[in-house]
Amino acid sequence: SGATVIAHPLVQHKLTHMRRKTTPTQDFRRLLREISLLLCYEVTRDLKMTTQTIDTPVAEMEAPVLAGKKLCFASILRAGNGLLEGMLELIPSARVAHIGLYRDPKTLEAVEYYFKAPQELDERLVIVVDPMLATANSAISAVERLKKRGAKNMVFVCLLAAPEGVARFNEAHPDVPIYTASIDEKLNEKGYIVPGLGDAGDRMYG
Ligand code: PRP
Repeated sequence: SGATVIAHPLVQHKLTHMRRKTTPTQDFRRLLREISLLLCYEVTRDLKMTTQTIDTPVAEMEAPVLAGKKLCFASILRAGNGLLEGMLELIPSARVAHIGLYRDPKTLEAVEYYFKAPQELDERLVIVVDPMLATANSAISAVERLKKRGAKNMVFVCLLAAPEGVARFNEAHPDVPIYTASIDEKLNEKGYIVPGLGDAGDRMYG
């Protein structure tokens, strides 16, 4: 349990630029896209492989390829799409689930307004993406929803996590590992990650 922190220097450097309040929208988006490529590379390290017989211009060979069904990204709207876009560049054949959730500003409960997922989730690795794990209400309910639709093999990827969110998510879904670029100090009374980077959705889309 806990979370795996992706300490790669490029990830950490880019994250610092994203945190600065003076970073404008266009830079914020570009950095998020770049970080998403690096996070995707790290979380797919252990994908199962098989081999195929191929012909190079010189000889026949047994060459490694990904095994099994195409994986599925599950994006928690809106901000999840910032991570999704970059990851789809690395894995263009991936399937995609969209889960629309907003946080009720008073209760901080996750309220669902959209859910659409591809078939045969049970046979795919499902990579759930959302830049922020704050109270974890959104991530917990998204993963519950995906489990109801059959998903069995999931990981959760975020940029920033609050320690409180990591603990709550681990308790709710001990079978779903968390990957993050940082575990910050705490959650404040409004449910924001401190020091964090503000609201990722607002910084991307306004
Ligand atoms: C933010 C963020 C996460 C969620 C994290 O979304 O993008 O989805 O809050 O908070 P939690 O862990 O306490 O649930 P928000 O509700 O602001 O929606 P948006 O992405 O559409 O802006």
